[in-house]
Amino acid sequence: MKDTFKIRRSVLGIEGIDSSYNFTGDNESDTFHLGAFVDNNLVSVASFYFNPNPNFNIDNQYQLQGMATLENHRKQGFSRELLNVAFPIIKQNFCNLVWCNARIEARAFYEKLGFEVFGDEFEVEGIGRHVLMFREIN
Ligand SMILES: CC(C)(COP(=O)(O)OP(=O)(O)OC[C@H]1O[C@@H](n2cnc3c(N)ncnc32)[C@H](O)[C@@H]1OP(=O)(O)O)[C@@H](O)C(=O)NCCC(=O)NCCS
Repeated sequence: MKDTFKIRRSVLGIEGIDSSYNFTGDNESDTFHLGAFVDNNLVSVASFYFNPNPNFNIDNQYQLQGMATLENHRKQGFSRELLNVAFPIIKQNFCNLVWCNARIEARAFYEKLGFEVFGDEFEVEGIGRHVLMFREIN
């Protein structure tokens, strides 16, 4: 889990705001962290938390957080690959829905991966505009 921090911090971290890269639930037993490596170097990470969002009328849900790829490794399919590994694991844990609070700049990326927008954009103080997105896993 600690390995994800370096990338999260450099890609998602905002000076003075720990919550931009340090998430509640990181050490929970039902949380899982995925990473993609190039030449033994971690280049892309994503983390998944057993955490229901009350906007969705489904008991078992996973939240995606900390989706980040190092800049010089982007658009090479690493994040897609991590999500495609995660979806069956989530389903195996009896969950059919994954959601995230997506930064606006990443919205089109999530849409490519089958996520849909739920509701209006909102501001996360100090971090920026976000939108709630979800994907059903069948
Ligand atoms: C968003 C992010 C995680 C995508 O990672 P990535 O490893 O480059 O993504 P992939 O290469 O797997 O991209 C999958 C698809 O989405 C597209 N895509 C990637 N980033 C995109 C973006 N910002 N906007 C639109 N499409 C995007 C890719 O072109 C690819 O499409 P294709 O299969 O048609 O070619 C990465 O750009 C990043 O770390 N951004 C900064 C941090 C961030 O915003 N994280 C999300 C926080 S909610």
